[in-house]
Amino acid sequence: MTTLMAAVTRVRVPASSANLGSGFDTLGLALNLYLECSFEPSDSLAITASGRDIDSIPRDETNLIWRTAVAVAKSQHRKMPAIRLGIRNEIPIGKGLGSSATALVAGVAIAARALHLDWDHHRILDEAARLEGHPDNVAAAVLGSAVTAAIDADGVTRAVRLEMPPTFRVAVVCPGFVLSTDRMRSVLPNCYSREDTVFNLQRATLLVAGLATGNHEAFPEAFNDRLHQPHRMANVPGMEQILKLRAPGLLGCALSGSGPSILVFYEENSESVLELVRGEFGRSGQSSEVVAHGIDEEGLQIT
Ligand code: HSE
Repeated sequence: MTTLMAAVTRVRVPASSANLGSGFDTLGLALNLYLECSFEPSDSLAITASGRDIDSIPRDETNLIWRTAVAVAKSQHRKMPAIRLGIRNEIPIGKGLGSSATALVAGVAIAARALHLDWDHHRILDEAARLEGHPDNVAAAVLGSAVTAAIDADGVTRAVRLEMPPTFRVAVVCPGFVLSTDRMRSVLPNCYSREDTVFNLQRATLLVAGLATGNHEAFPEAFNDRLHQPHRMANVPGMEQILKLRAPGLLGCALSGSGPSILVFYEENSESVLELVRGEFGRSGQSSEVVAHGIDEEGLQIT
């Protein structure tokens, strides 16, 4: 007996927090909040969405996941076949948790599968990083855990995934307003002094060494940054005070991606430090919520 089964493919991509303070456009951390897509062949494009912030998810050809899949098909001189696409989103949109990077990764993965391109995760990562323009969010979204990444002169993303020591706890505190990455990149200077560049190199390398070994000694200084956070502060009420917070068990805070959310590193059993961050947002007139509580270890899943 022949059984006809609909060929449904499922793609799951984690949220991510980029930069980690000193690692601007370089470091990313995958978070246990997900964008899940399912798709199957269809006569015409049909998109449904459920979950968080669905009012910000278009359900026509302007959808970023679909547009990405179409762009990938075009780059391969192919046409993206019509699909029925189901989207389930847990990731706050416009809050600095890599929502557009997850959409790009999902779109590339969907095109690769629909067109039988036989692309592995590294090829999907190259394509998504090229589309995004910087590799930090997409590298974490594809590989999971903490990732340090760069795009080389040939457009290939070089990424190394770190196993996060269990002694680090992370969470993301999200205020009630959104910011566009384009706008938050437009406030950055075009040039930096040698002093500021060396300042960040020192801290970013300390941070990677700390994450790789579980050594907390250089925290919170390792999150300190002169390349992006000082220039973005004016757009995030409460951020200046949050980055200065010091408390037992608090390892450090950083703007999550281009903001406005805050990534918090803390020690085991020190969850109460999250209330200090929320308190600073509150004093600045902002409501806030803790949206992510932990790291994703698996990265992109296609089944
Ligand atoms: N590294 C990026 C930035 C992340 O800070 O602008 C946001 O996409």
